[in-house]
Amino acid sequence: MIWLIGYKGMLGAELSEVLTAAGLEWSGSDREVDIRDLDALRSWLVAPGGGNGRKLDWIVNCSAYTAVDRAEDEEALARSINATGAGNIAMVANESGARLIHLSTDYVFRGDGTRPYVETDPVDPAGAYGRTKAEGENLVSNYCSRSLILRTAWLYGRHGPNFVRTMLKLMRERESISVVADQYGSPTWAFDLAQTILTIIKAEQIEYGIYHYTDAGQTSWFGFAVAIQALGRELGLLYRECEVKAISSEQYPARVKRPLWSVLSKDKIDAAFGIKPPEWKESLRKYLESENGMVQS
Ligand SMILES: NC(=O)c1ccc[n+]([C@@H]2O[C@H](COP(=O)([O-])OP(=O)(O)OC[C@H]3O[C@@H](n4cnc5c(N)ncnc54)[C@H](OP(=O)(O)O)[C@@H]3O)[C@@H](O)[C@H]2O)c1
Repeated sequence: MIWLIGYKGMLGAELSEVLTAAGLEWSGSDREVDIRDLDALRSWLVAPGGGNGRKLDWIVNCSAYTAVDRAEDEEALARSINATGAGNIAMVANESGARLIHLSTDYVFRGDGTRPYVETDPVDPAGAYGRTKAEGENLVSNYCSRSLILRTAWLYGRHGPNFVRTMLKLMRERESISVVADQYGSPTWAFDLAQTILTIIKAEQIEYGIYHYTDAGQTSWFGFAVAIQALGRELGLLYRECEVKAISSEQYPARVKRPLWSVLSKDKIDAAFGIKPPEWKESLRKYLESENGMVQS
C-alpha cells in the first residue's frame, strides 16, 4: 500500500489519479493529518479509514508549505512543515519499513549557475522557502535511509493555481501583460512528474538518494508565456489580442529573489530509472488539450 501525503495539492491530486489508473492500492491524507504532529502521523498508520494496519510499501510526501513569497514573513511556519514535518514523515517511514519519496525544489540552489544543476551541486538557497526545503532534505536523508528526494521546478497542472492558468486568464482580460524574461527554468507538467513517481514505485531496483526531474528543455517565464499564448490560440482557448512584453526581474516587484537559472540536469534519473522527460512544449500542448476538454493521450 502507498500512503500519499498531501493528496489534495496540485501534484498530490495528479498522482492520486495516476496511481488509481495504474491499479495500485493507495490511501491519502492531507491537512487532517498534520505532518508537524509526529503522533498524528503514527496514529494514521493504524487508524480505520487511514492505514488501518495494512503493510506500507511506500510513502510519497507531496505536502509542503509552498507560498514562496509569504515564507519570507513566515519562515518559522514554513520550517515547521517543510523541515520538521518532512523529518517526521521520514521517521515514520523508517519505523514502518516503508520506502519514501519526498519532493523538493530547485529553490535549494542559488540560481546563478551557467549549466544545469546536478544532484551533487552544493545547495545555497537565496530565500526562506528554499532554506526550509533544504533543511527538509537533510532531515529526510538523515532519518530514512530508504528515501528518494525528487527535486522539481516550475510545476503546473489541473489541480491547482499555476502560471499557465494565470497567463490564460490575464491574456483573456488584458490588452497587454509584462513577463520576466531573464529567469530561466523548465516548465513541468504535474502529470509527467506523477508518471515519473509511478515509474520509480514500480522499478525493480531502487537506488536511493537525490534526483532531479523536470520536463526537458528550458525557457524563460516570457518564453513560457509566449508558448502558452500561441498554443492557446491554436487550441481555441484564446480569442482576443494581448501583447506579451518582456521585462527584467528588476522591473517585476517580488518579495523574494527568484533563481535566474534553475535548470536541473536529468541525467541521473535517466541512468538509474530510464526516465526520459518529454519536451516541455509537447507537455504544455497535452495539458492545454486536456484543459480544453479534449482527451488526454
Ligand atoms: N508548485 C511548484 O511549482 C513546485 C516547484 C518545485 C517543487 N515543488 C514541490 O513539489 C511538492 C508539491 O507541490 P504542490 O505545488 O503540489 O504543493 P501544493 O499544491 O501547495 O500542495 C501541498 C499540499 O500539502 C498540504 N499541507 C500543507 N501543510 C500541511 C500540513 N502541515 N500537514 C498536512 N498537509 C499539509 C496543503 O494543504 P493546504 O492547501 O490546505 O495548505 C496542500 O494540500 C512540494 O514539496 C513542493 O515544495 C513545487
